[in-house]
Amino acid sequence: MATITIDRTACKRDGFCVATCPFVVLTTDADGYPIASPESEKHCINCGHCVAVCPTAALQHANLPPSDFLPAQPGQATPGALDALIRNRRSIRKFKRTPLTQATLDDIFQVARYAPTAKNMNHIAWHVTRTYEATRHLAGLTADWISQVGYLPIAVEAFNAGGDLVLHGAPHVAYCVSPMNDLMPWTDGAIAATMVDLIATARGIGTCWAGIFMKAAGAHAPLQQALRLPEGTGVVGALMLGLPAERFRRTPPHIGQADVTWID
Ligand SMILES: Cc1cc2nc3c(=O)[nH]c(=O)nc-3n(C[C@H](O)[C@H](O)[C@H](O)COP(=O)(O)O)c2cc1C
Repeated sequence: MATITIDRTACKRDGFCVATCPFVVLTTDADGYPIASPESEKHCINCGHCVAVCPTAALQHANLPPSDFLPAQPGQATPGALDALIRNRRSIRKFKRTPLTQATLDDIFQVARYAPTAKNMNHIAWHVTRTYEATRHLAGLTADWISQVGYLPIAVEAFNAGGDLVLHGAPHVAYCVSPMNDLMPWTDGAIAATMVDLIATARGIGTCWAGIFMKAAGAHAPLQQALRLPEGTGVVGALMLGLPAERFRRTPPHIGQADVTWID
């Protein structure tokens, strides 16, 4: 069965779908209608751009139900609002223990589905602890790894004293998991986590990247078992999440200037 079908009664032969396809899946036939072949459809990455660009909804994609296409809303985030979100995002290291509601968590990860991935593979899966206790358990396994490798001994001391320099007492840690033989797993993970960071910040939720935890997840077998990672996958991004228990009144500078080399 064809992946892309064209309703010739609706098609205006404007060529937008042919022009937008990133992998030349669509070409134009002798009458000016778009066509795809079983051979060319093998290159389709399911980006949906051909359907999304058509002014008359003349295309259907077998893998992308029409009802899943939302009306485009260009210009919703003004440059000023987005700039302020990026500047005012801070790494939060003091959290309230109360977990976020399931509806809030669902909302964040539904929006994060729109993060781009290399070749539109969409293989990023999120795992999220739902309680403070579950999160602290993973912080403890990370502290065990720290004590084995001798990195940051103060984190082990802090953990043993009831504190937490690893996941900072957050009620949630969200880590994203990718098949490690994907095209660009680390990049996909960094983008996905950055999206979650901004989506959560826009909702008043505190976040902090969990780099130490990520390092331990790549090296410490007991933690890897607790993370329930499917065979061949790894943790490619991780964030603490929770209601912030600290408030910043100023935006600190990031040292240095924007480092840009202009090429002519
Ligand atoms: C990849 C990555 C890993 C990080 N890991 C940690 C971490 O394990 N613990 C922590 O407290 N902060 C961590 N951070 C937060 C950085 O220290 C923080 O982004 C930086 O100091 C700038 O502060 P800001 O995020 O408030 O602008 C990490 C940040 C990144 C990007």
